Amino acid sequence: MNLNFNKYLLAIFLTASFSAKAIPTPEAVEPQFDADDNPTYIIKYGKGDRLKEDGTPLNLIQIECQGKAVDFVTDEELDQCRGDDSLVEMKYGWMDFSTYKGWRAYHAECHVCHGPDAMGSTYAPSLMVSIQEGLSYDDFFTVIMNGRGEAEGAQKGNVMPAFGANTNVAPHVEDMYRYVKARADGKIRRGVRLPKLPKFKEVE
Ligand code: HEC
Repeated sequence: MNLNFNKYLLAIFLTASFSAKAIPTPEAVEPQFDADDNPTYIIKYGKGDRLKEDGTPLNLIQIECQGKAVDFVTDEELDQCRGDDSLVEMKYGWMDFSTYKGWRAYHAECHVCHGPDAMGSTYAPSLMVSIQEGLSYDDFFTVIMNGRGEAEGAQKGNVMPAFGANTNVAPHVEDMYRYVKARADGKIRRGVRLPKLPKFKEVE
């Protein structure tokens, strides 16, 4: 851990000496460590915080077209953006560790039915849209823990399995909510490449 921490300090030091030119200086990127020694990044959406050797920032986390996440623009707006670069903005930044864990947990257990990047499928709804339409954290939690079959009001023939006893899921519901909420808020693009972080520790 100490070794890693030194690397982060070095990165921050390098960033500080680099950033005068290409991209805005980040407000805060220094990882904080929680009780389990996991780094947590303060999210500063839209700020690049490190540069590659060629000067381009790392971690493109959203592409905006006319001020809206590309997932959410109309075809017409998208066409306008294709024709005019000045309407397009690339957003760079970090995702905090909790959101990162949520991304991983989601793509391990949920994407098979709910689609990659929380986009939905013909079988199961887009959880991104569910949250946009007001699905609360409590309801999100309850459905995941208990599942939902026809008896609980699910659409005929569809089953949302109960994950309450699944240790890959139950401890990570809050992280998954955070990830899906960030998608719903247009903060994270589809297929985003995430910052490389140390493997997260499973809480027993
Ligand atoms: C076997 C397929 C399947 C898997 C795997 C699955 N789900 Fe579902 N899920 C469904 C279906 C189908 C529904 C819709 C049920 C209905 O008709 O109400 C659903 C509904 C939900 C809802 C309620 C959405 C709403 O708008 O009311 C949430 C939240 C949810 N799932 C979360 C998850 C999460 C998180 C995971 C991964 C841990 C997951 N699901 C894995 C099939 C699945």
